[in-house]
Amino acid sequence: MLRVNSTKCDVGDAIMKFDAGRRASVFFRGILACTVLCLVPAECEPRAAAQTAPPASTQHPVKFTRPSNAQLADPALEARVDRLLRQMTLEEKIGQLVQYNDTGEASPVPVANANQGAMAAVNPEAANHVNAMDLAATGRLGSMLNTIGAEHTNTYQHLAVDKSRLHIPLLFGADVIHGFRTIYPVPLGLAASFDPELVVALSHMAAEEATTAGVRWFYSPMVDISRDPRWGRTVEGAGEDAYLGAAMARAYIRGYQGDSLSKPGSVAASVKHFAAYGAAEAGREYNTTDMSEIRLRQDYLPPYQAAVEEGAATIMSAFNSLNGVPASANPFLLNRILRGEWGFNGFVVSDYTAVMELMNHGIALDPATATRKAITAGVDVDMMSHFYDTQLPALIRSGQVPMAIVDEAVRRVLRVKFATGLFEHPYVEGVEVKGAASAHRPLVRQAAEESFVLLQNDKLADGAQVLPLTPARKRVALIGPLADDKGDMVGAWAGAGNEGDIVTLRQALAQRAQQLGTTLLYTEGTEIESTSQAGFSAAIEAARAADVVILALGESGAMSGEAGSRAHLDLPGNQQQLLEAVVATGKPVVLLIFSGRPLLLEWAARHVPAILEVWFPGTEAGNAITNVLYGDVPPSGKLPMSFPRATGQEPLYYNQLPTGRPPTGIDLSKPSGDGTRFFSRYIDVANSALFPFGFGLSYSNFAYKDVQVSTNRILLAQALKNRTTPLLEATAIVTNTGERTATEVVQCYVRNLGASIEQPVRSLKGFRRVTLAPGESKRISFPLGFKELSFINMESEPAIEATHYTVWIGGSSLASQETNFEVVSSPGMADSHR
Ligand code: BGC
Repeated sequence: MLRVNSTKCDVGDAIMKFDAGRRASVFFRGILACTVLCLVPAECEPRAAAQTAPPASTQHPVKFTRPSNAQLADPALEARVDRLLRQMTLEEKIGQLVQYNDTGEASPVPVANANQGAMAAVNPEAANHVNAMDLAATGRLGSMLNTIGAEHTNTYQHLAVDKSRLHIPLLFGADVIHGFRTIYPVPLGLAASFDPELVVALSHMAAEEATTAGVRWFYSPMVDISRDPRWGRTVEGAGEDAYLGAAMARAYIRGYQGDSLSKPGSVAASVKHFAAYGAAEAGREYNTTDMSEIRLRQDYLPPYQAAVEEGAATIMSAFNSLNGVPASANPFLLNRILRGEWGFNGFVVSDYTAVMELMNHGIALDPATATRKAITAGVDVDMMSHFYDTQLPALIRSGQVPMAIVDEAVRRVLRVKFATGLFEHPYVEGVEVKGAASAHRPLVRQAAEESFVLLQNDKLADGAQVLPLTPARKRVALIGPLADDKGDMVGAWAGAGNEGDIVTLRQALAQRAQQLGTTLLYTEGTEIESTSQAGFSAAIEAARAADVVILALGESGAMSGEAGSRAHLDLPGNQQQLLEAVVATGKPVVLLIFSGRPLLLEWAARHVPAILEVWFPGTEAGNAITNVLYGDVPPSGKLPMSFPRATGQEPLYYNQLPTGRPPTGIDLSKPSGDGTRFFSRYIDVANSALFPFGFGLSYSNFAYKDVQVSTNRILLAQALKNRTTPLLEATAIVTNTGERTATEVVQCYVRNLGASIEQPVRSLKGFRRVTLAPGESKRISFPLGFKELSFINMESEPAIEATHYTVWIGGSSLASQETNFEVVSSPGMADSHR
């Protein structure tokens, strides 16, 4: 899974793993960049003619509210920060704002014509050639990224603590996105579990593992809402919905940070990428985002805000620009919203070389201006640009950057360092976890099982559904490039797991066949991105000889994640042809889709009886899939993103705004014709998703009835006054009408009609996982309060007006059982808003 790239990088085992085939890093790209990127170019020196600062009046006012993290606001901690800050030189202060990766003992001299590495190609301007060891020993380095392992982190920490004048420890951050050594499903898959408590447990587990390797800071969670699966980073988030995204965001923070940052096994979180990075135009990586403030606040900001409310210690500013202002120099986002409105009191770190990239965005003509714009906008720490350390001294001397801004940035960093207990415990203590922990396997297996989404499970000619498999199907053919592929089971950002720890589907099915006395026939069929049909005949032969075929198709892990945007959403290579050839044998087929995004499954949905989306399941992939295929665990996942019928529908999401020409009552599966043309529709494809948000089947069935609200009239004054406790309860009875005990994700959707700003056709406002025995019923209730019922008004404030609400409760975003209630201005009176 993680392979060593030989170029100038053999500074150690754990720190030197690169994902072959990916851009040079998952975890560790930075090392390559740092050892081979060089040049502290003359252009990096402050220019006398650096663009001057705008007048203060054009900057956004900052209003301070309650601090988001109580631990960071502790007066005793602040006193320690004060004492330390008073002793610091300017150079030492700037050092706290600077972040590099491990350089080993690299000499700070440019390496001419060396393999410059992926990041040098992208960002030659930001090429740094620093010696991180020297910086650490002289108090000119505050934090390090993707430097892991007890030995390595302790080495650097000793330099900082023993040698530097003020003994300030380093903070080690890393991209621990879905597990450190024991890997769980990619975040998009995890979101399909609709199980925040599970996410708390998993993220705490990852934090416990990583702290044994010196990592005290995770660049996670990524909470960017993504409504366009072309964007490769879709895999790193919770999908298209703000409510689900916010619930997941809170869960990650609770798991990472626990109830105290200083407890062993806790890490500081970095919520990323602030903000709206997931709305990159056309799904193209690093691209522009542009949207109204209402949409930003209503649909994109809630997960970041939830994470901040949960006490997230740090935030990462994004690469993208938002409405023309790059997020890493955006005072509106960082100073006004994040710090002013939300009271965020942690620190902001830039994304990788994002400060340098302000020049590429064209809002800074020189490094000095980029630096000034970033720090005055609220970016405290410069990750890898090599700008803060080279530019800030002169900017401060010339008064272009006030000392107070630097002091405050340093305070924010020091607060986190004190709160995490780094001053007391700078080194790794205890035994380092170096591989998948057997005690953690059951949890990551459960997570994978919960993440799978059963998209289709048709009955065969004998009247039985294909899944779950039974031992009566004596000969099982397993075909496909992902059937026995360890490396791709973990997907993008695979942490520091060992490939040898991963259980493939072939391994697990072989074991199951042995237990059941059945036969497993395996052949690869094709590669993930191949054009050769050489393996097709063996695949067809295996299928013909079998009672059931399991086809393991999809993307490689590297096809999503950072810089993994795709313009085509179909199965890569010739996998579609393999699928068609295998289906043509007439044997029952179970199609497993491994992917970091929704793919196009239109043909499969018409021809394949059973389809299970398994994302990238992690270390226990094979065992978890086998358990679900054989029905030990019934599938319970629901889609966190809509699966399209055609790429041209994107961005496709369920909670769209209504249009003036809704195609109500029209058969959209037919091309537009007489009387059906002038509606909001395509002439060549239905508007709807192939598999909508919230959708997922089980091996049982669930029925919904009796959707009720505790009151159908609420006084507006009461709704506006009471912002914390529920205003009403929505309930429904859900019954397991099938023959197996199974878990359903019960979902509550709301529509608000008659408001001053048009509102989505429906929005998720609650969900609950419920396990029911056959025939068992439960009334499930959803509290609805100001948070659920408000919308963002023209003044960019959350508001409730006297309007009409519809509530649906059911098993997907197509839930049809509904009821209504109203918010009224005065008792006994219906408002004339409709
Ligand atoms: C990514 C971030 C990541 C950082 C550090 C960047 O390229 O956008 O998500 O945390 O690198 O590795």
